[in-house]
Amino acid sequence: MRASTFPADPIALLSHLARARLGLTLLVLLAALLPASAWAGEWLPLQNDGIHDPRSRGLKILQEPAEALHGLTPDHAGNMVRWVHSLEKGEIRPRERLFPQTKVRKLDLDIIMDVKGGMPAVRFPHRQHTEWLDCANCHNGLFAEKTGGSKISMFKILQGEQCGVCHGAVAFPLTECTRCHSIPRPGSTQPVVPPGLDPRIHLPSGVGKK
Ligand code: HEC
Ligand code: HEC
Ligand code: HEC
Repeated sequence: MRASTFPADPIALLSHLARARLGLTLLVLLAALLPASAWAGEWLPLQNDGIHDPRSRGLKILQEPAEALHGLTPDHAGNMVRWVHSLEKGEIRPRERLFPQTKVRKLDLDIIMDVKGGMPAVRFPHRQHTEWLDCANCHNGLFAEKTGGSKISMFKILQGEQCGVCHGAVAFPLTECTRCHSIPRPGSTQPVVPPGLDPRIHLPSGVGKK
């Protein structure tokens, strides 16, 4: 696969527009009007994706997304590839480092983020993130390296901060609520931790420490 062409995510584009001038309410409204599934299974040609300049002669040297991405595990949102699955199945083998001396750091640790109100709790998996990203992408700029150390909120995420720095921009879009809010709480106020998991529990601000 050549590296040059990711069709930009339509929701990400909206989010940038919204951040620039329209505000959060309009973003949410637009996101609701344009469900990501409208694009399911198809990639717009670069010519009319609304991102590339159709008059540019440079377009010819870029690979079309449909050609580059069609063999990978499909998704119905974002750029229509389920990247985590694609990597796990070995469909792609990204180069981990440019220099032999670079240390590749990985961590298998889930953080369950309990949420006030009725939404299912959020599971943040370190493993799937550190397959792609070094620790320094998040620690300690975006998040404290301590469970409960950061005040995370959906409002900030929708404004492109915290998880929203990547989700909706380069990783799956924020319209996929249950991909993050994946831990149900049937009948109880605490999330139900799936068997076999030994996660750290992050409580929302204002709730007593565990
Ligand atoms: C995509 C972002 C991201 C990446 C990359 C990442 N982390 Fe984290 N990490 C988090 C978040 C979010 C938390 C929870 C913060 C909170 O609860 O406020 C966390 C928490 C932690 C904690 C606290 C666990 C505890 O016991 O309290 C440690 C330690 C940690 N990370 C180490 C690492 C290391 C080492 C790496 C690289 C191998 C790494 N992290 C990569 C986002 C990330
Ligand atoms: C520095 C970039 C970055 C940040 C910040 C980030 N993520 Fe991710 N996340 C990724 C990438 C890249 C992937 C893999 C590609 C994809 O699934 O779109 C991913 C995948 C995931 C997955 C899918 C795991 C799977 O098994 O399919 C979950 C869940 C997730 N992120 C939750 C979160 C949550 C919750 C936060 C905030 C606490 C967060 N992420 C912050 C980049 C990031
Ligand atoms: C990329 C991951 C991710 C996605 C996608 C996501 N959320 Fe969240 N959400 C979070 C995190 C992280 C928190 C904060 C957890 C905490 O309190 O520490 C949160 C918190 C919340 C809260 C609690 C109130 C607040 O502001 O903290 C609500 C309600 C919520 N999300 C609704 C949604 C809805 C509805 C969607 C889909 C439109 C969605 N979320 C999509 C990660 C995500």
